[in-house]
Amino acid sequence: MKKIIILANKNSCYNGKIIRYFKKNISICKILIENNLEIKNNCNGFNICNYCKIKINEGIFFIRKKYFNSCQIFDFVFNNIIITI
Ligand code: FES
Repeated sequence: MKKIIILANKNSCYNGKIIRYFKKNISICKILIENNLEIKNNCNGFNICNYCKIKINEGIFFIRKKYFNSCQIFDFVFNNIIITI
């Protein structure tokens, strides 16, 4: 079981949230949508619109960038991850 920890944010996730999931080959964007979190995805995961950006606080160590399109990060890249929407 993997975990996504979403830090509290007054705009989109007021109290923060911990999501546990079992599915494979699923993007963070889809996981967030399935858990009723507001994240825009105008291009439906084709990496065109850049509306689904999230900040990765911890969990992916081999990349220096902090902001990613959540539709392009799949579960096999991390085990547990801490993000800000
Ligand atoms: S949904 Fe458009 S870039 Fe991710």
